[in-house]
Amino acid sequence: MSQIRNQITSVGPDETWAIGKSLGMLAQPGDVFLLIGQLGAGKTRLTQGILNGLGSENIARSPTFVMVTEHLNGRLPLYHMDLYRIGSSDDLTELGLDEYLYGDGLSVVEWPDRAPDAFPRNHLEVRIEVLSGSKRQLTISGSDKYEHILGEMFRY
Ligand SMILES: Nc1ncnc2c1ncn2[C@@H]1O[C@H](COP(=O)(O)OP(=O)(O)O)[C@@H](O)[C@H]1O
Ligand SMILES: [Mg+2]
Repeated sequence: MSQIRNQITSVGPDETWAIGKSLGMLAQPGDVFLLIGQLGAGKTRLTQGILNGLGSENIARSPTFVMVTEHLNGRLPLYHMDLYRIGSSDDLTELGLDEYLYGDGLSVVEWPDRAPDAFPRNHLEVRIEVLSGSKRQLTISGSDKYEHILGEMFRY
């Protein structure tokens, strides 16, 4: 029982999906979840769970050409962004990210580190580290707004 309170170890994709589902069930309008981790860490897998937790039957994918995919058939709209291919700050302005980030849906962002200044300070951060094979360590932190989520996830 030496695990730090805001960290969860996932032993496989299904477990990461289930963690995402819990996050999706707890999400509130206007929430912003930033997902940080290398390619293949499981950001999209987590997002698929989040989408299911919102009650949508859609499957989230890593978008190749679009940077924002809207899923509108859940309890809240999910705006799934992937900034992996972002090139310049102009791209960001053109995307109109703020309409999503300050809207009434849930924004889930892969590769937010590509544009660190583009996001509200009030956000939940999920950092996914590859430990070995299919083991991942998820570290979840957030501003006060997200205390209820951390409380539910870690029951402190
Ligand atoms: N514990 C785990 N959690 C999430 N994905 C895992 C895990 N173990 C293995 N994987 C595999 O790693 C890949 C993660 O892919 P993906 O979610 O698209 O990553 P990312 O979006 O971070 O690039 C998938 O092929 C998945 O099956
Ligand atoms: Mg991805």
